[in-house]
Amino acid sequence: MSAADSITIARPDDWHVHLRDGAMLRDVLPWTARQFARAIVMPNLSPPVTDMASAAAYRERIIAAIPPGIDFTPLMTCYLTDDTDPDDLARGAAEGVFTAAKLYPANATTNSARGVSDMRRIYPLLGRMEAEGIVLCVHGEVTDAQVDVFDREAEFIECHLRPITHNFPRLKVVFEHITTQEAVNFVLESGGNLAATITPQHLHLNRNAMLVGGIRPHAYCLPVAKREAHRLALRKAATSGDPRFFLGTDSAPHLRAAKESACGCAGIFNAPFAIESYCTVFDEERALDRLEGFASLHGPAFYGLPVNRATITLERREVEVPAMLSAAGEGIVPFHAGETLGWRLVS
Ligand code: NCD
Ligand code: ZN
Repeated sequence: MSAADSITIARPDDWHVHLRDGAMLRDVLPWTARQFARAIVMPNLSPPVTDMASAAAYRERIIAAIPPGIDFTPLMTCYLTDDTDPDDLARGAAEGVFTAAKLYPANATTNSARGVSDMRRIYPLLGRMEAEGIVLCVHGEVTDAQVDVFDREAEFIECHLRPITHNFPRLKVVFEHITTQEAVNFVLESGGNLAATITPQHLHLNRNAMLVGGIRPHAYCLPVAKREAHRLALRKAATSGDPRFFLGTDSAPHLRAAKESACGCAGIFNAPFAIESYCTVFDEERALDRLEGFASLHGPAFYGLPVNRATITLERREVEVPAMLSAAGEGIVPFHAGETLGWRLVS
């Protein structure tokens, strides 16, 4: 096998994942742990993980669900509300329970009703986070009813993110699952304290993929996929080698019945073949030599964590993604269902 048909990189991490809880956690976690050494775990359970005690308990439930013999470390996040206790957050960070705090604008996405209703309300908290060096992960969409869903990310930059980064220049901010050229530009214009994660679906899909020839609920997530020009901007950013862009799958499992519904849930379950999906993109962009930076190096550098010592190897060998998997005793449809990907994780 020639070098171009095989790639070995430091074991990657997933800097944004939804692992859920209970039977769903048990069935989705092995997919993530198969590929990733660590993952930033989203706190939007029901009820959400809003304090150190509930995060520590959730972390124990995750650890209990790790398959034997697999090395995986969950990195926990604190779901910020209007009433987050700054001392609890700071103590949780100091004691290693929290790796980051997560800002959901209230009602922006799944289980975000208790999110922050007015950004100014948490400015004192952001000042504390800046002082303590706690990373802020942001779901960057405005929620105003009059703002078109396709404009909500770009609007968030001007209404909220630019003021936050201006007022707290030393605060480390991850602009999560970016979907627009505007978001790429904003990261490029900023200093090193702002980074962004990019999902596999936003590198593969534009909004036509979701809406042309029939409505495809399994291509629907938030932030919603945008025009082709935005997808191309994301591919360019992800494969550029710029350390401010790194891997975050936003794998968000919902059962098939909840997706294929008159009011389907937002979220794409991409955990099963995530690294293969990213690898395919980097290959198509002739940037396989930059996959390791994006998947395994830039994230740890931003978070101030060591790079994983273990490695993974992907080979140019077809892998068929099943049309359906099972979770919690029910059907669940993975990203790329029924497709063949050109790269396979072999070890
Ligand atoms: C996520 C979920 O289902 O929890 N859904 C999604 O579409 N990405 C929430 C989120 O990250 O927005
Ligand atoms: Zn998410």
